[in-house]
Amino acid sequence: MQVGGPFWDVPLGRRDSLGASIQGSNQGIPAPNNTLPTIITKFKRLGLNVVDVVALSGGHTIGLSRCTSFRQRLYNQSGNGLADGTLDVSYAAQLRQGCPRSGGDDNLFPLDIVSSTKFDNYYFKNILAGRGLLSSDEVLLTKSAETAALVKAYANDVHLFFQHFAQSMVNMGNITPLTGSQGEIRKNCRRLNNFH
Ligand code: HEM
Repeated sequence: MQVGGPFWDVPLGRRDSLGASIQGSNQGIPAPNNTLPTIITKFKRLGLNVVDVVALSGGHTIGLSRCTSFRQRLYNQSGNGLADGTLDVSYAAQLRQGCPRSGGDDNLFPLDIVSSTKFDNYYFKNILAGRGLLSSDEVLLTKSAETAALVKAYANDVHLFFQHFAQSMVNMGNITPLTGSQGEIRKNCRRLNNFH
């Protein structure tokens, strides 16, 4: 794999929908400014636990986010005109340069400032340094002792993160599969027709 990271056996034979729906996808999906209890509740509704929340958030070790997804943290986190106090000050200043108060909505920023093209545990190390990009990333450290302990454990032990991430990906893959004659067992996972 180009980016590195763990491997895991994907249980086969899952029945998937014949189509995809953007409304369906957005329903129940956590937003980056949701509180930690809301995020945990949304995961729990799907049968995923707190370990799944933290381990899967580690998916943000790769990829990018638009300015609109975290702007509020830079300028007015709590409606008092101040930046999110849990953001590292110099990191916040750096982000404000490319993500102004208005405009630049689609400007892109790495979710992992250190190594956004490598699947590693810098996502968690960044959070410990106030350098988590999304509010939903940083609250894993600041709003619950249970999730904070996992952030620290993954920052200290990349193998533990990989092990939990692999298990949580399997857990996520087992969320409410279709049954009986609904949907189909995909023979080609890359089939992208039927989207609307
Ligand atoms: C905990 C709840 C989560 C929240 C609130 C969340 C939020 C977000 C947001 C806001 C973005 C940027 C989207 C944009 O600005 O267009 C993003 C990107 C991303 N997320 Fe999450 N996410 C969550 C969980 C996950 C999970 C479970 C995974 C996979 C295991 C994941 C993997 C990714 C990846 C890879 C990207 C980068 C996409 C790209 O570069 O095109 N996220 N997420």
